[in-house]
Amino acid sequence: MEQWHKEAVVYQIYPKSYLDTNGDGIGDLRGIINKLDYIKSLGVNTVWLSPCYPSPGDDNGYDISDYRGIAAEYGTLEEFKELLDGMHSRGIRLLMDLVVNHTSDEHQWFVESRKSRDNPYRDYYIWRDPVDGKEPNGWTAAFGGSAWEYDEATGQYYLHLFSKKQPDLNWENPKVRQEIADMINYWLDMGVDGFRCDVINNISKDFTRPYAGGNGPRLHEFLHELHVKALEPHKALTVGETWGLTPAQALDLTGEARGELTMTFQFEHLLLGRVGGDKFDPEPLDKKAFVDILAKWEEGLKEDSYPVLVMENHDQPRALSRFGDRENYPYESATMLAALLYGMRGVPFIYQGQELGLHDPTFQSLEEYRDIETLNAYAELKATGKWTDEELLAKMQYGSRDCGRVPMPWNTEKEGGFTTGTPWLKTQIDPGFTVAEQEEDPKSVLNFYRKLFELRKSIPALADGEFKLLWNEDDVSVYTRTAEGVTVYVVCNFSAEKKDIPSCFPHGGAILLNNYDNEKEWLQPYQALWIKTR
Ligand code: GLC
Ligand code: CA
Repeated sequence: MEQWHKEAVVYQIYPKSYLDTNGDGIGDLRGIINKLDYIKSLGVNTVWLSPCYPSPGDDNGYDISDYRGIAAEYGTLEEFKELLDGMHSRGIRLLMDLVVNHTSDEHQWFVESRKSRDNPYRDYYIWRDPVDGKEPNGWTAAFGGSAWEYDEATGQYYLHLFSKKQPDLNWENPKVRQEIADMINYWLDMGVDGFRCDVINNISKDFTRPYAGGNGPRLHEFLHELHVKALEPHKALTVGETWGLTPAQALDLTGEARGELTMTFQFEHLLLGRVGGDKFDPEPLDKKAFVDILAKWEEGLKEDSYPVLVMENHDQPRALSRFGDRENYPYESATMLAALLYGMRGVPFIYQGQELGLHDPTFQSLEEYRDIETLNAYAELKATGKWTDEELLAKMQYGSRDCGRVPMPWNTEKEGGFTTGTPWLKTQIDPGFTVAEQEEDPKSVLNFYRKLFELRKSIPALADGEFKLLWNEDDVSVYTRTAEGVTVYVVCNFSAEKKDIPSCFPHGGAILLNNYDNEKEWLQPYQALWIKTR
């Protein structure tokens, strides 16, 4: 397996919200091309681009109607190649989004598949007869309702784990697997460096289960087949979007000898602050658990795998709003979270705008939301009659994926410089939270991230050193990273109170990183320190 992932620092771009260059209110590839020097300046060396393929846009591009093209609103295949060249000439690798659990219902395969029961594409999808005149089983879809949609024309149901415009592919069919391997080779032959693999542990279904879960019986076999036919020959990097794994299951997908995926995301800490993981049901954040979970994954993957370090993406509200203190300590808590997470062993993933320490925008009404998950959840919760409209809006504000999807604030001009037209989703421009302002401010979150990534690159203990949690009590944590006789201590105060330093605190080391200017009087609210000792 390729090893370059150990040096990767990944920046996720959600193309629809990055930069619009033709005034239609939708970000485009030209916008990304124009910002390549900015991206490079962050200290990242890899970009993960969320889907930019043709799509009817039911789930913002995660419903693909043509796997080999570029959506007209984003640009052309020529522009895509220009973007790829522009990245490569700056030493940046590109990961595309691989969405192969499902296609759009407007994909040609599905258009054919639903035509008749004996269409050659019928078995590209999962069709079942009604059972007692109803759905074949009780599986529910992630975006609400049954996971089965009845199709009048042929009298059968098709499976969709997401929206009904996202029919699930039938991976049991070898033709489907071959089509996907060919498609992967098409992009890799063009020079793409790898893929982020959307909900990849859902591709093998287990119909003996009462609920639609991941990790079906043939998952490993299917992934190994893709590895052999496409990924390995190109030395492509893959990172799987895999919800609900244990570290042992993650190792089974990523261990060196497995020949499946390079890495998997783990999101367990992102379920905190939510009752039972329900994103629309807030509860106070358990900060000790936050650190303990991360430490558990560091330990669990240390032998034979490499963790992914993530706290934001296009499916999550902003980390500052969820875990930090947006009111009183926006800079300190945003930088503390970065120092805490990215001091660990693994590949940092940051999501556009995270480098500015953005917090969630304020949504005034339901009309301001665009996300299908949010709109469906609102309707479903409203139908229960349990909440007032105001309470429902508060829930959406807390959990909506649109919180992380509002356009990038580039400067203090109209719409933050994102577009000269009407943005597809509202913008929110707050003083101090734009790229232009933070560029000028040495004490900005942006410049803190740059320094942090620079340090990770230059100090081996931070790159691949051994991890050890020394302390995690009373909102203060201390862990170390050690390699080549050098130990870096990462000390964080995860609270708005001043705290004493714990006894394991190193005395006499060199301060590499500090989100305060102080040389003593530690630990200030949300203070974070990286201290190097020999
Ligand atoms: C993943 C994506 C999410 C999408 C879903 C269905 O979770 O990150 O945005 O809605 O898969 O493709
Ligand atoms: Ca545009």
